[in-house]
Amino acid sequence: MADSIKVPTEIAQQYFLLNGNILPASDFKQEETTIFPSVYEVIRVIDGVPLFFEEHLERLVKSLEILNYTLPWDESFIKDQLYRLIDLNQCYNYNIKIVINGLDTENKNLFVYFITSKYPPQEQYENGVHTILYEAERENPNAKVIAKSFRDAVTKKMAESNAYEAILVNQKGEITEGSKSNIFLVKDNVFYTSPAKDVLLGITRHRVIQLCLQLGYAVKEEAVPASFIQEADGLFITGTSPKVLPIASVDDRVYHSSSNSAILDLRRAYDALIQEYIKKSSVE
Ligand code: PDD
Repeated sequence: MADSIKVPTEIAQQYFLLNGNILPASDFKQEETTIFPSVYEVIRVIDGVPLFFEEHLERLVKSLEILNYTLPWDESFIKDQLYRLIDLNQCYNYNIKIVINGLDTENKNLFVYFITSKYPPQEQYENGVHTILYEAERENPNAKVIAKSFRDAVTKKMAESNAYEAILVNQKGEITEGSKSNIFLVKDNVFYTSPAKDVLLGITRHRVIQLCLQLGYAVKEEAVPASFIQEADGLFITGTSPKVLPIASVDDRVYHSSSNSAILDLRRAYDALIQEYIKKSSVE
């Protein structure tokens, strides 16, 4: 076979786990993690605790179900693998990726590895980030399936515009989600986000909706016409790495999202929720 094409590798730290075996990062082959279909999860580790692990596992099982597969390992085995990886690398604050593929072959694979992770600096929480609109729809929005060509195209577009995230607009002209996040809009202290059927059901999205309700805000999960962003008071991104991240601009349009009181309220409550979860899991 000719030399394989070099794919940029996303692995971080010294060791990774493949089907329960410890391997050095130098043995990692990125292309083996993107064969179709590959389902995945990205879990943030804070103070050695995989944040919202139970919900990530549930979503992993759902992604497999959508493709008509079941999880071929015990859930406890997967949890053990995460803690093992954390111990092995002595890395307590970073993101771990789980990839499962090869399910219709004899070589089903479970990859567990740290991935190069980037968290927004404080300045981006305080000022917000730049985003762009991008016409695209993910096939099977509810499934977390690796779609390399989509990822490459959108990454290129974002780099050209110096954007933190691309907000996807579907064929009906509605805003659905970010390329790797969920999107919320706020108008008159009401939170709006696309309905569950049209998006990847972000763990952060779910927690944020619960929190907004607890804080006494109304949340509307309904189709958001792209024109609605002209009327919004503010917008923000939710996701494992960005948490609740205010948006300062969408293309040429500028927002004061980071000083919007409802968004500020939520951002603080979400940070407190993370601390609570970490504290609870550390004593268990
Ligand atoms: N992405 N929507 C899409 C399309 C995503 O890819 C992601 C996460 C989210 C946010 O989900 P969560 O709140 O569970 O992180 C929404 C990950 C992190 C990734 O692809 O790397």
